[in-house]
Amino acid sequence: MRILVLHGPNLNLLGTREVSIYGDQTLADIDAHLAKVARELGAEVECFQSNHEGALIDAIHAARGKTDGLLLNPGALTHTSIALRDAIAGVQIPAVEVHLSNIHAREPFRHTSYLAPMCVGQISGFGARSYELALRGLVELLRERASKS
Ligand code: DQA
Repeated sequence: MRILVLHGPNLNLLGTREVSIYGDQTLADIDAHLAKVARELGAEVECFQSNHEGALIDAIHAARGKTDGLLLNPGALTHTSIALRDAIAGVQIPAVEVHLSNIHAREPFRHTSYLAPMCVGQISGFGARSYELALRGLVELLRERASKS
C-alpha cells in the first residue's frame, strides 16, 4: 500500500516556525516518523513539500494509478485553494486532511477548509501526532475498503 504525503506552504519551516503553535519537530522528523509507522503497518510513504500550489497539484495528478491514498497538510492553501480541492476531486484518490493545530479553535479565516469536503476525513489539533493518527486511519480505511471489494 502506497501513501503520498503532501505538505504545503511554510511547513518546511517546522521546528522554528511559531513553535508555540506548531511544536518543535522538524518536517524531516515528521517524515521519518511516518516512514517508520508506515513500515509497521505494512505500507510505504512518499513525502513531498512545496510552497507552490501548482507543484502540489502536479504531485496529486502524478499520483494517479501509483498511490492508494493521500495524506495532505495544505497549510494556508486549506483556506484559499479551490484548485487543490478540484485536484483531489479529480483524481479520486482517498485523501485525509491533516493539521498540526486545531484550525477550528483559531482565527475565523482558518475555520473554513475548501478541501475537507473532498476528503474522507480531517485530523486537526494533535500537533505532529496528527500525521500519525491520519496515517493509521487512512491505512485502516483503505484495508477495510479492499476487503469489501
Ligand atoms: C496548518 C494550519 C493552517 O491554517 C496554517 O496556515 C498552516 C499550518 C496546521 O498544520 O496547523 O500553515 O495547516
